[in-house]
Amino acid sequence: MNQPFDVTALAASYANKSAQDILKLAFEHFGDDLWISFSGAEDVVLVDMAWKLNKQVKVFSLDTGRLHPETYRFIEQVRTHYGIAIELLSPDPAELEPLVRDKGLFSFYQDGHGECCGIRKIAPLKRKLASVKAWASGQRRDQSPGTRSEVAVLELDSAFSTPQQPLYKFNPLAQMSSEEIWAYIRMLELPYNSLHERGFISIGCEPCTRPVLPNQHEREGRWWWEEATQKECGLHAGNLIAKS
Ligand code: ADX
Ligand code: SF4
Repeated sequence: MNQPFDVTALAASYANKSAQDILKLAFEHFGDDLWISFSGAEDVVLVDMAWKLNKQVKVFSLDTGRLHPETYRFIEQVRTHYGIAIELLSPDPAELEPLVRDKGLFSFYQDGHGECCGIRKIAPLKRKLASVKAWASGQRRDQSPGTRSEVAVLELDSAFSTPQQPLYKFNPLAQMSSEEIWAYIRMLELPYNSLHERGFISIGCEPCTRPVLPNQHEREGRWWWEEATQKECGLHAGNLIAKS
């Protein structure tokens, strides 16, 4: 980063800019220090846009160990399609093994997803982001009325910044609708996760994701046994902090 980064002013001036413009801004300021977080779903659009701007784009995925086989195959397809490395982040066995030993593989159905997501997603993400200056997610406002309706196109990451190291977070797709995302995927013939052909819209871990019925909101297919306001796993905890 060469010049000062005034996140509040830039968020206001980029509020209505295109996803590509937001990514351009991110690369201009952070270059190869920008990391894209790819979940193996329709956020392939973000990977595509970023790759078109920077062939050296850095991408990571959180390999919770519980993704669908289709998602693993899709991550591999994206890796080869774009010829990019995708860093897969795994949970720490020292945290995971006691959880599974003591509570089994499906404890989240009894006591909520917080503990399992904490070990399988948040801790690996936190380890990764400790050495990162800026990251970009594919979250969008239309994905979750309960938690994402105010997602900014860029922000100081209030969940993962430390007093020593500010962390900037870009949400280039924030304003895009599901229709626009799918028009982009189809028009440019991007690869997509084959689960989308079976009624899945929002895709997370296999035990915590199910297809939705016609006219059900996509978020209802995630952690369906929990309240709508709880439907964040902590990757985007800033959304909850901002709303509280
Ligand atoms: S989640 O927090 O509820 O799981 P969601 O599936 O809506 O998130 O995806 C929103 C964005 O969060 C994705 O576009 C991606 O940037 C990030 N994300 C979610 N899951 C993962 C994952 N397993 N690995 C990397 N990034 C992820
Ligand atoms: Fe565990 Fe479900 Fe969270 Fe995946 S989404 S980390 S399986 S609780």
